[in-house]
Amino acid sequence: MVHIAIIGGTGVYDPSILKNVYDDKMNTPYGEVAYKIGEFGDKKIAFIPRHGSHHSIPPHLINYRANIWAIKKLGVGHIIATTAVGSLNERMKPGDFVLVDQFLDFTKNRVSTFYEGGDRGVVHLDVTEPYCPKLRSFIEQAAQQLNLPIHNGGVYVCTDGPRFETPAEIKMFKQLGGDLVGMTNVPEVVLANEAEMCYSTISMVTNFAAGISPQVLTHAEVLEIMAENGEKIKKLIMRSIEN
Ligand code: HPA
Repeated sequence: MVHIAIIGGTGVYDPSILKNVYDDKMNTPYGEVAYKIGEFGDKKIAFIPRHGSHHSIPPHLINYRANIWAIKKLGVGHIIATTAVGSLNERMKPGDFVLVDQFLDFTKNRVSTFYEGGDRGVVHLDVTEPYCPKLRSFIEQAAQQLNLPIHNGGVYVCTDGPRFETPAEIKMFKQLGGDLVGMTNVPEVVLANEAEMCYSTISMVTNFAAGISPQVLTHAEVLEIMAENGEKIKKLIMRSIEN
């Protein structure tokens, strides 16, 4: 049985801290999923790079259902994900980590449920608390131990991408209460909740969002900050698991 799954976002493609790592794959009703299994202390960990190991899958084409289905079948109870985000909140700066506690769903073209009628029926999931508070507090503690800048709480706005947002969209998201913007956390968090797993994402602020940032955004800028902070995020995940 696998205890914990790590879903690595932009900039987090390898589980270098795990021991005895091997590649595996699983067929799900939604397609095949490739992942790695490794050990950390006495825990068995699964690792899935959300965008593929070479960042070849854009946010709108990620097979979210297959990933979460496979993770559940492995027997996982807890998922720690990472997400690169732009910030709408001047308190949440590039290089900061945020444990979001709410989301605003602005995706338009994604299937965001396992329940499509038929045999599985019609289910209306409660998402009052979509991000596991216990897991968030473990991660917050770990960040404090490692002296990393962390905010526990924040509203993640999810867009379809793959383009970045217009300044007008960012202004609207800000007025609606959004703190961060990214392209992948919905439906991932929703599906993890449907599958009854404890889910938290560590959002890594890579830039101030369009119109807030004085410069035009580039993917290279996002990758640069993630590369600078990739080691920190891995240390943070592992310390959280130790705790
Ligand atoms: N917008 C959307 N997704 C992102 C951003 C952004 O500014 N930065 C990193 N991922």
